[in-house]
Amino acid sequence: MQNTLSHIHRFQPASKPGLVPLLLLHGTGGDENDLLGLGAELAPGAALLSPRGNVLENGMPRFFRRLAEGVFDEEDVVRRADELAAFIKEARETYGLEAPVAVGFSNGANIAAALLYRHPQALAGAVLMRAMLPLRKKPEVELPGTPVLILSGAVDPIVPAANVGLLAENLRQAGAAVTHETQLTGHGLVRQDLDIAKTWLRSHFPAA
Ligand code: MLT
Repeated sequence: MQNTLSHIHRFQPASKPGLVPLLLLHGTGGDENDLLGLGAELAPGAALLSPRGNVLENGMPRFFRRLAEGVFDEEDVVRRADELAAFIKEARETYGLEAPVAVGFSNGANIAAALLYRHPQALAGAVLMRAMLPLRKKPEVELPGTPVLILSGAVDPIVPAANVGLLAENLRQAGAAVTHETQLTGHGLVRQDLDIAKTWLRSHFPAA
């Protein structure tokens, strides 16, 4: 655990040169350790930056407050997305990183989407696993060609299909190059999600 920057986090330096760093963003109740294994599987040898969400819900870390499941405190979404953008900047300076690709699951995917809505320069791209709309307002930024992969579950009890469809649409309208794949499953990840993410990362962010 590293405590020196604004978020408690783990950082694993790259063991292979030329790979885009991954910003790993956990789901509700997770922490900075959760997605390190997944990151290493998706991009072996890439630098991994994994912050813990700064909000607690009944003791469970999250990246922003919610009023109920799927109902977000949008003021807090904005504030926390801004904080996370500042953390990414600090971490890039501290560790000498280029802009990372976010890999977020559930609440982590939602804060990654909020980052895209507000801080288009913070990320080189994003893998949004089981994401939903972080904010009702459309993004006012431009995301020219920013690669975004959205991975959904067709029978996800938390994320209505129309909601994530609107997220994909809003990002496309802002200029992002969105790929949206849906598996016949629920909120949890399945093997195909990881295979698709790995292939997508390799083709959009080949080693330099
Ligand atoms: C959220 O609160 O971000 C979503 O409902 C996903 C979750 O964390 O359960």
